[in-house]
Amino acid sequence: MEIVNVKINAAAETSYPIFIGEDILENAYLYIKKYSKAKKYLVVTNTTIFPLYGEKLKNENTEFLIIPDGEIYKNVEFLNKILDKALEIKLERKDAIIALGGGVIGDMAGFAASVYQRGIDFIQIPTTLLAQVDSSVGGKVAVNHKLGKNMIGSFYQPKLVLSDTNTLATLDERQFKTGLSEVLKYAFIEKSCNCDSSYNLFNFLSENKYKVLNRDLKTLNLLINICCNLKSSVVNQDEKEKGLRAILNFGHTYAHAIENITDYKVYTHGEAVSIGMKLIFDLARSLNLITDDYYEKSLKLLNDYGLILKMNFNPDKENFYRIMQSDKKVNNTLINFVMPVSEGAVEIKSDIDKNMILQGI
Ligand code: NAD
Ligand code: GLY
Repeated sequence: MEIVNVKINAAAETSYPIFIGEDILENAYLYIKKYSKAKKYLVVTNTTIFPLYGEKLKNENTEFLIIPDGEIYKNVEFLNKILDKALEIKLERKDAIIALGGGVIGDMAGFAASVYQRGIDFIQIPTTLLAQVDSSVGGKVAVNHKLGKNMIGSFYQPKLVLSDTNTLATLDERQFKTGLSEVLKYAFIEKSCNCDSSYNLFNFLSENKYKVLNRDLKTLNLLINICCNLKSSVVNQDEKEKGLRAILNFGHTYAHAIENITDYKVYTHGEAVSIGMKLIFDLARSLNLITDDYYEKSLKLLNDYGLILKMNFNPDKENFYRIMQSDKKVNNTLINFVMPVSEGAVEIKSDIDKNMILQGI
């Protein structure tokens, strides 16, 4: 069992634990009761996850809301369904909403918990690799609007996170790779996370490729622990993304445009991020920000993990640029790029020439 403690702005009273390991779901309520005084729980999950893991959370104090599976349901309509259900079952201020699922369920259930009766306890039980290393940690919760992804949301930290790595066994290869893309992201930003511990995740990933790809649980437990520690360090320093937290968006500036231009139907988030990371390494090399040696090493790592590195179509460049400019992380039309500058280190740059940005598209 691995435990990571997330502290927000170094304040002990807003800290929460992430439990990482096998068979955690079997004893979920033992963990939950230590960190929440809830008497009643609403578990939000979906039609894929409920038949796999729903049984493990059933008890006399728990009700379930099972929503259809897919990013298209992460919207205000389904947020309302969660709130309707919470009211119907008379969930009270001291009760809790539990998210059982990937990032879609976690983001939406977390947002519901943040607004229901001005905020009730929220418990994350992430079941995808992406959710275990990224979305369940750090408190970003949201739903999509038809004019933009994650446009309606808040920062709302969970009471605890239960990452049962047994759940990763049922994840299909595509979704597993999607999570790995975010894992590699941490290797490229590790030194800029200002974490107390030094992991050299880049080397860890190079040396343990087969164990990771074969989903060796001991290796995955350690890997998730490292990623959560790195993210926790960043969130501790900058919960509301005033500065440092933006480094977690390494590769995402391109990725968001790729997802948007393909109407979120062609690539998973992680696939768009791996293409985005390749584009950012190309850009950094063109700008002489990194050595050829680091460029080659990074591309090798991305290739070794079999991540998608190229779009399968040629987008209209002007449209692509316009979409990048409309991203919510853009300030005054200047596009902020998290650029690699040396092994495992990044810097935010916003003065990059448009032609250079579009060169690799
Ligand atoms: P997802 O939640 O859609 O899950 C991917 C697929 O895997 C779904 O079909 C789901 O039903 C299925 N699934 C989940 N767990 C499973 C399991 N154990 N076995 C078999 N199938 C399983 O996608 P995701 O990649 O987990 O999350 C993507 C979402 O996360 C996006 O909405 C994105 O905006 C959000 N996100 C949020 C943050 C944040 O900080 N809050 C960070 C990154 C991404
Ligand atoms: N996934 C980016 C963040 O949590 O800030």
